[in-house]
Amino acid sequence: MEPLQLSFPRRFLLGTASASYQIEGAVTEDGRGPSIWDTFSHTPGKIEDGTNGDKACDHYHFWEEDVELMKRLGVNAYRFSISWSRILPKGRGKINNKGLQFYSNIVDALIDAGITPFVTLYHFDLPQALQDDGGGWLRRGIIDDFEAYADAVSVELGDRVKHWATFNEPWELAWQGYVTGEDAPGLRLSNDAALKASHNVLLAHGAAVRALRDNAPNAEIGIVLHLNMVEPASDRPEDVAAAHRWELCQNRWYMDALYREGYPAEMVKLYGCDASEVIPGDMEQIQEQIDFLGVNNYRRSVVADGTDLPPVNMKRVNPSGEYTEMGWEVHPEGLYKILKWIHTNYPVPRVYVTENGASFKDTVSPDGKIHDERRVAYLREHINQAHRALREGVPLKGYFAWSTMDNFEWAYGYSRRFGVIYVDFKTQKRTIKDSGCFLSDVAKTIKS
Ligand code: FCB
Repeated sequence: MEPLQLSFPRRFLLGTASASYQIEGAVTEDGRGPSIWDTFSHTPGKIEDGTNGDKACDHYHFWEEDVELMKRLGVNAYRFSISWSRILPKGRGKINNKGLQFYSNIVDALIDAGITPFVTLYHFDLPQALQDDGGGWLRRGIIDDFEAYADAVSVELGDRVKHWATFNEPWELAWQGYVTGEDAPGLRLSNDAALKASHNVLLAHGAAVRALRDNAPNAEIGIVLHLNMVEPASDRPEDVAAAHRWELCQNRWYMDALYREGYPAEMVKLYGCDASEVIPGDMEQIQEQIDFLGVNNYRRSVVADGTDLPPVNMKRVNPSGEYTEMGWEVHPEGLYKILKWIHTNYPVPRVYVTENGASFKDTVSPDGKIHDERRVAYLREHINQAHRALREGVPLKGYFAWSTMDNFEWAYGYSRRFGVIYVDFKTQKRTIKDSGCFLSDVAKTIKS
């Protein structure tokens, strides 16, 4: 393999990422309550290959081996999420100590292995009991529930975990959960539901930041957004306007709320009476000071005028080029551009690429290895582009490949592999892929 021409600064975090429902399995063990993803994945027709996360990678039982594998990779960080319903089976009330203990053990093992734990509190798996109580994120009272959950987790782990993200991808959870119905809870409501859910999520984020500060005073706290560089499909004014609306809907709705004057006025006007009610004090709560922004990025968005998501009225266009198994364009420069866009337009003091990766069909070769050259190339080019942004002054502090291991890819089930570690889902045997070896090489470039 051709050597890497770069090096990362001291203390740069280089690792892999995962999420609780996608890897843990053991859904009824040790007091865990059901989440909306259990319900959704067991609803016929919702998951492409008819599977669910009941077993997944059985990480609940294999976690020691999994930490050992990460140690072998030589990475120095691991981003993972906590299952709310393992800690509070009904979403609120009595704490399930076995759930806390599970994560506490993982944190200890990671620290022993020289791997920095990077915790996400919410990665899509809301306790079902809270969905049943007033519609999940539609009920404003859920903010208090999330704050209490953040408090419970950080009281236990705050002495050891120094990196906390409140939410993963608020846009996805609100729009795909409440409007398009692609993800749990699978609702097909009108835009006001997504906007209300999204507003409550951002308020819950602010409330949780306060709880985390109290329990983990020296930690870095932030949020993870899915941000793509948006480009119009042509210079036709209609396409330029559609691209602008899409950027407002997916990127700026959150970035302006967190870092600028609040929701973009132009978009509030376009949503009309669907726009969420903002009461005095809300924006101050959303803008509770955070230390970092996590960016999930897989592709760029090339957008034309269309009929999707009215009144955004856009459609995605796929320019010719290379595509992953998800049907996502491979466009490494998009990562560089979005990092520059953040740095140019918002006062973000620290940025982490919290997810970046690719799904390709993997096969086990006769030599027993997984030669996933296309994923290696994808990671190499994206890491190069992230490094380019770093050289140009973007305060990039870390990079996490999605994903640690092949797992339950939400509505696609097990049909899309993203891991740098291969998982045979019948035997739970793990094998480090060539892309995992490549990440080991990248980790070696971090200055000591
Ligand atoms: C992101 C999710 C992550 C994974 C990747 C492919 O949107 O945060 O869990 O599914 O996409």
